[in-house]
Amino acid sequence: MKNILVTGGAGFIGSNFVIYLLDKYDDYNIVVYDKLTYAGNLDNLLDVSDDPRYAFVRGDICDPVAVEEVIQQYEIDTIVNFAAETHVDRSIMNPDAFIQTGVYGTYVLLEAARRLGLERYHQISTDEVYGHIPSGYSSVETDKLDPRSPYAASKASGDLLVNSYFITYDLPVTITRGSNNIGPYQYPEKVLPLFTTNALDGLPLPVYGDGRQMREYQYVVDHCEAIDLVLHKGQLGEAYNIGTGVEMENLEMVEIILDTLGQPRDLIHHVKDREGHDRRYSLNIDKIRGLGWEPTHSPAEAVAKTARWYRDNEWWWRKIKEGDFKEYYEKQYGHRWQNA
Ligand code: NAD
Ligand code: DAU
Repeated sequence: MKNILVTGGAGFIGSNFVIYLLDKYDDYNIVVYDKLTYAGNLDNLLDVSDDPRYAFVRGDICDPVAVEEVIQQYEIDTIVNFAAETHVDRSIMNPDAFIQTGVYGTYVLLEAARRLGLERYHQISTDEVYGHIPSGYSSVETDKLDPRSPYAASKASGDLLVNSYFITYDLPVTITRGSNNIGPYQYPEKVLPLFTTNALDGLPLPVYGDGRQMREYQYVVDHCEAIDLVLHKGQLGEAYNIGTGVEMENLEMVEIILDTLGQPRDLIHHVKDREGHDRRYSLNIDKIRGLGWEPTHSPAEAVAKTARWYRDNEWWWRKIKEGDFKEYYEKQYGHRWQNA
Protein backbone atom coordinates (compact mmCIF):
# COMPACT_ATOMS: atom_id res chain seq x y z
CA MET A 1 0.00 0.00 0.00
CA LYS A 2 1.57 3.24 -1.15
CA ASN A 3 -0.69 5.34 -3.35
CA ILE A 4 -4.18 5.64 -1.89
CA LEU A 5 -7.24 7.08 -3.62
CA VAL A 6 -9.60 8.50 -1.01
CA THR A 7 -12.94 9.02 -2.73
CA GLY A 8 -15.19 11.50 -0.93
CA GLY A 9 -12.07 12.74 0.86
CA ALA A 10 -13.28 16.37 0.96
CA GLY A 11 -16.21 15.43 3.18
CA PHE A 12 -16.33 15.12 6.95
CA ILE A 13 -14.86 11.70 7.75
CA GLY A 14 -12.81 11.46 4.54
CA SER A 15 -10.92 14.68 5.27
CA ASN A 16 -10.25 13.63 8.87
CA PHE A 17 -8.96 10.31 7.52
CA VAL A 18 -6.60 12.01 5.02
CA ILE A 19 -5.18 14.27 7.76
CA TYR A 20 -4.79 11.22 10.02
CA LEU A 21 -2.97 9.12 7.39
CA LEU A 22 -0.58 11.88 6.32
CA ASP A 23 0.30 12.52 9.94
CA LYS A 24 0.87 8.84 10.73
CA TYR A 25 2.70 7.58 7.63
CA ASP A 26 5.63 9.31 5.91
CA ASP A 27 5.63 7.13 2.82
CA TYR A 28 1.98 7.17 1.69
CA ASN A 29 0.74 9.36 -1.15
CA ILE A 30 -2.91 10.36 -0.93
CA VAL A 31 -5.10 11.46 -3.82
CA VAL A 32 -8.49 12.85 -2.84
CA TYR A 33 -11.07 12.28 -5.58
CA ASP A 34 -14.26 14.18 -4.82
CA LYS A 35 -17.17 15.66 -6.77
CA LEU A 36 -17.46 18.56 -4.30
CA THR A 37 -21.20 18.31 -3.79
CA TYR A 38 -22.74 20.68 -1.23
CA ALA A 39 -21.05 18.52 1.46
CA GLY A 40 -17.54 18.52 -0.03
CA ASN A 41 -15.37 21.35 1.24
CA LEU A 42 -11.70 22.04 0.51
CA ASP A 43 -11.49 24.10 3.72
CA ASN A 44 -11.45 20.72 5.49
CA LEU A 45 -8.12 19.93 3.82
CA LEU A 46 -6.40 23.30 4.25
CA ASP A 47 -3.97 21.84 6.80
CA VAL A 48 -2.54 19.41 4.24
CA SER A 49 -2.99 21.42 1.03
CA ASP A 50 0.76 22.16 0.70
CA ASP A 51 1.88 18.63 1.52
CA PRO A 52 3.71 17.14 -1.50
CA ARG A 53 2.26 13.71 -0.65
CA TYR A 54 -1.30 15.01 -1.18
CA ALA A 55 -3.19 15.79 -4.40
CA PHE A 56 -6.79 16.75 -5.10
CA VAL A 57 -8.77 15.77 -8.20
CA ARG A 58 -12.33 16.91 -8.69
CA GLY A 59 -14.43 14.09 -10.13
CA ASP A 60 -17.48 11.89 -9.85
CA ILE A 61 -17.24 8.22 -8.84
CA CYS A 62 -20.09 7.57 -11.30
CA ASP A 63 -17.76 8.51 -14.20
CA PRO A 64 -15.86 5.32 -15.19
CA VAL A 65 -13.46 7.06 -17.60
CA ALA A 66 -12.40 9.71 -15.09
CA VAL A 67 -12.04 7.07 -12.34
CA GLU A 68 -9.72 4.91 -14.47
CA GLU A 69 -7.74 7.97 -15.51
CA VAL A 70 -7.05 9.09 -11.96
CA ILE A 71 -6.06 5.56 -10.92
CA GLN A 72 -3.61 5.26 -13.80
CA GLN A 73 -2.21 8.78 -13.56
CA TYR A 74 -1.36 8.42 -9.86
CA GLU A 75 -0.49 4.69 -9.95
CA ILE A 76 -3.13 4.03 -7.31
CA ASP A 77 -2.93 0.65 -5.54
CA THR A 78 -5.69 1.14 -2.93
CA ILE A 79 -9.14 2.74 -2.93
CA VAL A 80 -10.86 3.81 0.28
CA ASN A 81 -14.40 4.81 -0.67
CA PHE A 82 -16.07 7.45 1.51
CA ALA A 83 -18.01 9.04 -1.37
CA ALA A 84 -21.75 9.01 -0.75
CA GLU A 85 -24.77 11.16 -0.16
CA THR A 86 -25.01 10.88 3.59
CA HIS A 87 -27.95 12.74 5.13
CA VAL A 88 -30.99 10.59 5.94
CA ASP A 89 -33.42 13.54 5.85
CA ARG A 90 -32.27 14.52 2.35
CA SER A 91 -32.67 10.89 1.21
CA ILE A 92 -36.30 11.07 2.35
CA MET A 93 -36.82 14.31 0.35
CA ASN A 94 -35.04 13.10 -2.79
CA PRO A 95 -33.35 9.69 -2.98
CA ASP A 96 -32.01 9.93 -6.55
CA ALA A 97 -28.39 11.01 -5.88
CA PHE A 98 -28.17 8.47 -3.04
CA ILE A 99 -28.88 5.61 -5.41
CA GLN A 100 -26.61 7.00 -8.15
CA THR A 101 -23.57 7.44 -5.94
CA GLY A 102 -24.13 4.70 -3.36
CA VAL A 103 -25.05 1.95 -5.82
CA TYR A 104 -23.82 2.84 -9.32
CA GLY A 105 -20.79 4.78 -8.07
CA THR A 106 -19.70 1.89 -5.85
CA TYR A 107 -20.03 -0.44 -8.84
CA VAL A 108 -17.87 1.89 -10.98
CA LEU A 109 -15.10 1.90 -8.36
CA LEU A 110 -15.23 -1.88 -7.88
CA GLU A 111 -15.10 -2.45 -11.62
CA ALA A 112 -12.09 -0.12 -11.98
CA ALA A 113 -10.36 -1.89 -9.07
CA ARG A 114 -10.97 -5.26 -10.72
CA ARG A 115 -9.97 -4.21 -14.25
CA LEU A 116 -6.81 -2.45 -13.11
CA GLY A 117 -5.85 -5.15 -10.60
CA LEU A 118 -5.70 -2.99 -7.47
CA GLU A 119 -4.19 -4.32 -4.27
CA ARG A 120 -7.16 -3.34 -2.10
CA TYR A 121 -10.66 -1.87 -2.12
CA HIS A 122 -12.12 -0.66 1.18
CA GLN A 123 -15.75 0.37 1.55
CA ILE A 124 -16.88 2.80 4.26
CA SER A 125 -20.30 1.65 5.39
CA THR A 126 -22.63 2.35 8.28
CA ASP A 127 -24.51 0.78 11.18
CA GLU A 128 -27.72 1.92 9.45
CA VAL A 129 -27.53 -1.11 7.13
CA TYR A 130 -28.77 -3.28 10.04
CA GLY A 131 -31.92 -1.16 10.49
CA HIS A 132 -33.65 -0.47 13.79
CA ILE A 133 -32.26 -2.71 16.57
CA PRO A 134 -34.52 -3.77 19.47
CA SER A 135 -33.26 -2.97 22.97
CA GLY A 136 -31.03 -5.61 24.55
CA TYR A 137 -29.41 -6.60 21.23
CA SER A 138 -26.29 -5.35 19.40
CA SER A 139 -25.67 -6.04 15.71
CA VAL A 140 -22.91 -8.42 14.65
CA GLU A 141 -21.35 -8.31 11.22
CA THR A 142 -23.08 -11.47 9.97
CA ASP A 143 -26.59 -10.15 10.76
CA LYS A 144 -29.07 -9.77 7.95
CA LEU A 145 -29.03 -6.30 6.37
CA ASP A 146 -32.38 -4.61 6.96
CA PRO A 147 -32.07 -0.95 5.85
CA ARG A 148 -35.12 1.26 6.32
CA SER A 149 -34.36 4.62 4.64
CA PRO A 150 -33.29 5.28 1.04
CA TYR A 151 -29.87 6.33 2.43
CA ALA A 152 -29.45 3.11 4.42
CA ALA A 153 -30.67 1.04 1.46
CA SER A 154 -28.10 2.70 -0.83
CA LYS A 155 -25.35 1.83 1.66
CA ALA A 156 -26.54 -1.76 2.12
CA SER A 157 -26.59 -2.14 -1.68
CA GLY A 158 -22.99 -0.93 -1.77
CA ASP A 159 -22.00 -3.56 0.81
CA LEU A 160 -23.68 -6.32 -1.20
CA LEU A 161 -21.86 -5.25 -4.37
CA VAL A 162 -18.52 -5.21 -2.54
CA ASN A 163 -19.16 -8.70 -1.20
CA SER A 164 -20.14 -9.94 -4.66
CA TYR A 165 -16.80 -8.72 -6.10
CA PHE A 166 -14.95 -10.63 -3.39
CA ILE A 167 -16.84 -13.87 -4.04
CA THR A 168 -17.03 -13.67 -7.83
CA TYR A 169 -13.73 -12.01 -8.79
CA ASP A 170 -11.62 -12.54 -5.70
CA LEU A 171 -11.16 -8.75 -5.42
CA PRO A 172 -9.30 -7.99 -2.15
CA VAL A 173 -11.98 -6.07 -0.27
CA THR A 174 -12.87 -5.08 3.28
CA ILE A 175 -15.85 -3.17 4.71
CA THR A 176 -16.19 -1.11 7.90
CA ARG A 177 -19.60 -0.21 9.35
CA GLY A 178 -19.36 2.84 11.57
CA SER A 179 -21.81 4.33 14.05
CA ASN A 180 -22.60 8.10 14.19
CA ASN A 181 -19.39 10.10 13.82
CA ILE A 182 -18.95 13.54 15.37
CA GLY A 183 -16.02 15.95 15.30
CA PRO A 184 -14.48 18.74 13.20
CA TYR A 185 -15.71 19.52 9.64
CA GLN A 186 -19.13 17.85 9.77
CA TYR A 187 -21.64 19.66 7.56
CA PRO A 188 -24.12 21.45 9.84
CA GLU A 189 -27.18 19.54 8.60
CA LYS A 190 -26.17 16.66 10.93
CA VAL A 191 -27.47 16.82 14.45
CA LEU A 192 -24.33 17.65 16.43
CA PRO A 193 -23.07 20.62 14.36
CA LEU A 194 -26.64 21.79 13.69
CA PHE A 195 -27.56 21.88 17.37
CA THR A 196 -24.22 23.33 18.47
CA THR A 197 -24.23 26.16 15.94
CA ASN A 198 -27.93 26.90 16.60
CA ALA A 199 -27.23 26.99 20.34
CA LEU A 200 -24.28 29.35 19.81
CA ASP A 201 -26.68 31.71 18.00
CA GLY A 202 -29.39 31.28 20.65
CA LEU A 203 -31.68 29.54 18.11
CA PRO A 204 -34.03 26.62 18.92
CA LEU A 205 -32.81 23.02 18.60
CA PRO A 206 -35.34 20.92 16.63
CA VAL A 207 -35.41 17.58 18.48
CA TYR A 208 -37.31 14.97 16.44
CA GLY A 209 -40.19 13.34 18.32
CA ASP A 210 -39.52 12.54 21.97
CA GLY A 211 -35.70 12.68 21.56
CA ARG A 212 -35.31 9.28 23.21
CA GLN A 213 -33.75 7.68 20.11
CA MET A 214 -30.43 5.91 20.76
CA ARG A 215 -27.23 6.45 18.80
CA GLU A 216 -23.58 5.50 19.40
CA TYR A 217 -21.85 8.87 18.99
CA GLN A 218 -18.17 8.26 18.29
CA TYR A 219 -15.29 10.69 17.82
CA VAL A 220 -14.29 10.81 14.16
CA VAL A 221 -10.56 10.32 14.80
CA ASP A 222 -11.30 7.08 16.71
CA HIS A 223 -13.20 5.89 13.65
CA CYS A 224 -10.26 6.85 11.39
CA GLU A 225 -7.86 4.85 13.58
CA ALA A 226 -10.08 1.80 13.29
CA ILE A 227 -10.39 2.11 9.49
CA ASP A 228 -6.59 2.33 9.27
CA LEU A 229 -6.31 -0.81 11.40
CA VAL A 230 -8.71 -2.75 9.18
CA LEU A 231 -6.80 -1.58 6.09
CA HIS A 232 -3.60 -3.00 7.54
CA LYS A 233 -4.76 -5.97 9.59
CA GLY A 234 -8.32 -6.75 8.48
CA GLN A 235 -9.16 -10.06 6.88
CA LEU A 236 -10.08 -9.86 3.19
CA GLY A 237 -13.78 -10.35 2.44
CA GLU A 238 -14.77 -9.37 5.99
CA ALA A 239 -16.85 -6.53 7.45
CA TYR A 240 -15.99 -4.85 10.79
CA ASN A 241 -18.33 -2.83 13.01
CA ILE A 242 -16.80 0.36 14.45
CA GLY A 243 -18.54 2.08 17.35
CA THR A 244 -18.17 2.59 21.06
CA GLY A 245 -20.43 -0.08 22.53
CA VAL A 246 -22.00 2.77 24.54
CA GLU A 247 -25.43 4.16 23.65
CA MET A 248 -26.72 7.65 24.28
CA GLU A 249 -30.21 9.08 23.94
CA ASN A 250 -30.41 12.15 21.71
CA LEU A 251 -31.74 14.24 24.60
CA GLU A 252 -28.66 13.41 26.68
CA MET A 253 -26.44 14.48 23.78
CA VAL A 254 -28.37 17.77 23.54
CA GLU A 255 -27.97 18.44 27.26
CA ILE A 256 -24.20 17.92 27.04
CA ILE A 257 -24.02 20.42 24.16
CA LEU A 258 -26.03 23.04 26.05
CA ASP A 259 -24.07 22.55 29.26
CA THR A 260 -20.73 22.74 27.41
CA LEU A 261 -21.76 26.02 25.79
CA GLY A 262 -23.47 27.40 28.92
CA GLN A 263 -26.78 27.73 27.07
CA PRO A 264 -30.25 27.18 28.58
CA ARG A 265 -32.36 24.02 28.26
CA ASP A 266 -35.31 26.01 26.93
CA LEU A 267 -33.62 26.05 23.50
CA ILE A 268 -34.87 22.43 23.18
CA HIS A 269 -37.95 22.26 20.92
CA HIS A 270 -39.60 18.94 20.14
CA VAL A 271 -40.76 18.88 16.51
CA LYS A 272 -42.44 16.42 14.16
CA ASP A 273 -40.44 13.20 13.95
CA ARG A 274 -38.41 11.99 10.95
CA GLU A 275 -40.41 9.63 8.71
CA GLY A 276 -39.42 5.98 9.36
CA HIS A 277 -36.99 7.14 12.08
CA ASP A 278 -34.83 4.25 13.30
CA ARG A 279 -35.15 4.37 17.06
CA ARG A 280 -32.03 2.53 18.05
CA TYR A 281 -28.72 1.44 16.56
CA SER A 282 -26.29 -0.63 18.55
CA LEU A 283 -23.08 -2.31 17.41
CA ASN A 284 -21.27 -5.29 18.83
CA ILE A 285 -17.60 -4.26 18.37
CA ASP A 286 -15.91 -7.47 19.56
CA LYS A 287 -14.51 -8.19 16.09
CA ILE A 288 -12.60 -4.90 15.74
CA ARG A 289 -11.53 -5.18 19.39
CA GLY A 290 -10.03 -8.53 18.36
CA LEU A 291 -7.64 -6.58 16.07
CA GLY A 292 -6.47 -4.62 19.13
CA TRP A 293 -8.61 -1.46 18.85
CA GLU A 294 -10.44 0.48 21.57
CA PRO A 295 -12.13 3.87 21.16
CA THR A 296 -10.20 6.64 22.91
CA HIS A 297 -13.18 8.94 23.61
CA SER A 298 -16.36 8.09 25.47
CA PRO A 299 -19.50 9.41 23.72
CA ALA A 300 -19.90 12.11 26.39
CA GLU A 301 -16.30 13.29 25.89
CA ALA A 302 -16.76 13.21 22.12
CA VAL A 303 -19.91 15.36 22.27
CA ALA A 304 -18.33 17.98 24.56
CA LYS A 305 -15.06 18.10 22.58
CA THR A 306 -16.99 18.49 19.32
CA ALA A 307 -19.20 21.27 20.73
CA ARG A 308 -16.05 23.14 21.78
CA TRP A 309 -14.55 22.76 18.28
CA TYR A 310 -17.58 24.45 16.66
CA ARG A 311 -17.53 27.16 19.33
CA ASP A 312 -13.86 27.85 18.49
CA ASN A 313 -14.08 27.50 14.68
CA GLU A 314 -16.82 29.81 13.57
CA TRP A 315 -14.72 30.65 10.45
CA TRP A 316 -15.50 27.15 9.21
CA TRP A 317 -19.28 26.88 9.73
CA ARG A 318 -20.60 30.45 9.61
CA LYS A 319 -20.19 30.83 5.84
CA ILE A 320 -21.86 27.44 5.22
CA LYS A 321 -24.89 28.35 7.31
CA GLU A 322 -25.20 31.68 5.53
CA GLY A 323 -25.16 30.10 2.04
CA ASP A 324 -27.46 27.57 0.29
CA PHE A 325 -27.93 25.86 3.63
CA LYS A 326 -30.64 28.40 4.51
CA GLU A 327 -32.88 27.13 1.72
CA TYR A 328 -32.45 23.51 2.87
CA TYR A 329 -33.14 24.49 6.48
CA GLU A 330 -36.39 26.20 5.57
CA LYS A 331 -37.52 23.21 3.48
CA GLN A 332 -36.60 20.65 6.14
CA TYR A 333 -37.75 22.51 9.26
CA GLY A 334 -40.23 25.24 8.16
CA HIS A 335 -43.32 23.06 8.59
CA ARG A 336 -41.86 21.26 11.59
CA TRP A 337 -41.86 24.39 13.78
CA GLN A 338 -45.59 24.73 13.15
CA ASN A 339 -46.09 21.17 14.46
CA ALA A 340 -43.74 21.65 17.40
P1 NAD B 1 -20.09 13.83 3.88
O1 NAD B 1 -21.46 14.04 3.34
O2 NAD B 1 -19.51 14.81 4.83
O3 NAD B 1 -19.05 13.71 2.66
C1 NAD B 1 -19.33 12.98 1.50
C2 NAD B 1 -18.28 13.38 0.47
O4 NAD B 1 -18.52 12.60 -0.72
C3 NAD B 1 -18.38 14.85 0.04
O5 NAD B 1 -17.08 15.41 0.02
C4 NAD B 1 -18.97 14.80 -1.36
O6 NAD B 1 -18.56 15.87 -2.19
C5 NAD B 1 -18.45 13.45 -1.86
N1 NAD B 1 -19.28 12.88 -2.93
C6 NAD B 1 -20.63 12.69 -2.92
N2 NAD B 1 -21.01 12.13 -4.08
C7 NAD B 1 -19.88 11.93 -4.81
C8 NAD B 1 -19.65 11.38 -6.08
N3 NAD B 1 -20.65 10.92 -6.86
N4 NAD B 1 -18.37 11.30 -6.53
C9 NAD B 1 -17.35 11.78 -5.76
N5 NAD B 1 -17.53 12.33 -4.55
C10 NAD B 1 -18.79 12.41 -4.09
O7 NAD B 1 -20.10 12.37 4.47
P2 NAD B 1 -19.41 11.73 5.77
O8 NAD B 1 -20.29 11.94 6.92
O9 NAD B 1 -17.99 12.14 5.81
O10 NAD B 1 -19.49 10.19 5.38
C11 NAD B 1 -18.46 9.57 4.62
C12 NAD B 1 -18.78 8.11 4.45
O11 NAD B 1 -18.92 7.49 5.71
C13 NAD B 1 -20.10 7.84 3.72
O12 NAD B 1 -19.92 6.74 2.87
C14 NAD B 1 -21.08 7.53 4.84
O13 NAD B 1 -22.10 6.69 4.38
C15 NAD B 1 -20.17 6.83 5.82
N6 NAD B 1 -20.56 6.91 7.23
C16 NAD B 1 -20.83 8.12 7.81
C17 NAD B 1 -21.11 8.18 9.16
C18 NAD B 1 -21.40 9.48 9.86
O14 NAD B 1 -21.78 9.45 11.02
N7 NAD B 1 -21.19 10.62 9.23
C19 NAD B 1 -21.13 7.01 9.92
C20 NAD B 1 -20.85 5.79 9.29
C21 NAD B 1 -20.55 5.76 7.96
O1 DAU C 1 -25.39 5.83 12.19
C1 DAU C 1 -24.48 6.25 11.21
C2 DAU C 1 -25.13 7.33 10.39
O2 DAU C 1 -25.18 8.48 11.23
C3 DAU C 1 -24.42 7.65 9.09
O3 DAU C 1 -24.44 6.53 8.26
C4 DAU C 1 -25.10 8.84 8.38
O4 DAU C 1 -24.39 9.21 7.22
C5 DAU C 1 -25.13 10.01 9.35
O5 DAU C 1 -25.83 11.09 8.77
C6 DAU C 1 -25.79 9.60 10.66
O6 DAU C 1 -27.21 9.35 10.46
P1 DAU C 1 -28.29 9.80 11.54
O7 DAU C 1 -29.59 9.92 10.87
O8 DAU C 1 -28.21 8.98 12.77
O9 DAU C 1 -27.66 11.26 11.90
P2 DAU C 1 -28.31 12.68 12.11
O10 DAU C 1 -27.22 13.57 12.57
O11 DAU C 1 -29.13 13.12 10.95
O12 DAU C 1 -29.32 12.40 13.32
C7 DAU C 1 -28.86 11.87 14.54
C8 DAU C 1 -30.05 11.70 15.46
O13 DAU C 1 -30.57 12.99 15.78
C9 DAU C 1 -31.21 10.92 14.84
O14 DAU C 1 -31.85 10.15 15.82
C10 DAU C 1 -32.14 12.01 14.34
C11 DAU C 1 -31.94 13.11 15.37
N1 DAU C 1 -32.13 14.49 14.84
C12 DAU C 1 -31.44 14.85 13.73
C13 DAU C 1 -31.58 16.10 13.20
C14 DAU C 1 -30.82 16.50 11.95
C15 DAU C 1 -32.96 15.37 15.49
O15 DAU C 1 -33.58 15.04 16.52
N2 DAU C 1 -33.12 16.62 14.95
C16 DAU C 1 -32.46 17.02 13.83
O16 DAU C 1 -32.66 18.19 13.39
